[in-house]
Amino acid sequence: LENGLGRTPQMGWNSWNHFGCNINETIIQQTADAMVDTGLAKLGYDYINIDDCWAAYDRDSQGNLIANPSTFPSGIKALADYVHGKGLKLGVYGDAGSRTCSNEMPGSLGYEEQDAKTFASWGVDYLKYDNCNDEGLSPQPRYINMSKALQSCGRKIFFSLCEWGVDDPAKWAGSVGNSWRTTGDIQDNWESMTAIADSNDKWASYAGPGGWNDPDMLEVGNGGMTTEEYRSHFSIWALAKAPLLIGCDIRSLSNDTKVILSNVNVIAVNQDELGVQGHKAQQGDQEVWAGPLTGGRVAVVLWNRGSAEASITAYWSSIGLNESTVVDAHNLWTDEITSSVKGQLNETVDTHACKMYVLTPK
Ligand code: GLA
Repeated sequence: LENGLGRTPQMGWNSWNHFGCNINETIIQQTADAMVDTGLAKLGYDYINIDDCWAAYDRDSQGNLIANPSTFPSGIKALADYVHGKGLKLGVYGDAGSRTCSNEMPGSLGYEEQDAKTFASWGVDYLKYDNCNDEGLSPQPRYINMSKALQSCGRKIFFSLCEWGVDDPAKWAGSVGNSWRTTGDIQDNWESMTAIADSNDKWASYAGPGGWNDPDMLEVGNGGMTTEEYRSHFSIWALAKAPLLIGCDIRSLSNDTKVILSNVNVIAVNQDELGVQGHKAQQGDQEVWAGPLTGGRVAVVLWNRGSAEASITAYWSSIGLNESTVVDAHNLWTDEITSSVKGQLNETVDTHACKMYVLTPK
């Protein structure tokens, strides 16, 4: 969507993967504090997004959405002020149906303009808009209605479609929102993460500045995968120009988690201005994913999805380089540079691990 937002994939945090409905304003405030204190904010993670369960069960007597008085007693405006005071932005969650997916909050179907104005009056910067309780109506018009309402609400609000890929949103959401989910919900395990990476991949050509494919939020740090699996998760999401929305409790980051989420080399691939989604370039258990970057550079992930250590070779012919091109290969996780590599890149990769490079032609 050409609303000036999402020129590179959005970065930040969302409450759902770790907290589900067990959220309150203290958690959100402490998360904003932690975003700054851990240094993550400086790296570009600037959205603090509250997912489902922030609102009261019913609208007020004028039909307005209101914050849940027991968990968000100060209200969303006060929280937005707090988050803005830290130099960050605040996101909320809504639904394009009659009620949200938890069923705990009203949906915005039929209330699009009123709710968009409410969000604007609170200083909300981001709306994740879900697709539960659709009343038998197809997604496209319901999402277009909210898109229009947001564009005329008087505030720039990032619009994140959470339609789970049911109606192939990649094909039509480019003019409706700044990102669209391509898959069902991620779970914190290797099978779910790899399956989601694969289903998101087929929509690669639809992504670009202003509108991104969204294979769902990060599980890094939530405990269900090994450190190497999380490193693979983060590397592939970065390469695929996916939103980098942290989904763990950043108030208590382990060192391993912090190192993964803070890798500036990997983040730079995600935020590269060319905005081309990297894709799977060589199939099989020993995969190669690649995509172009500004300056004729190429980002490559050698990803071992097999159950034993293996050798992986990325061939120039499959990653968009001329056979004769000589490159310097920057290993983004070790920060080592191998100079003058020609024709192919061959490396040994541990099971479920990856190695990620930026190749710069000489
Ligand atoms: C859906 C979405 C999730 C989350 C929950 C909240 O399942 O896909 O990302 O927002 O709803 O109920």
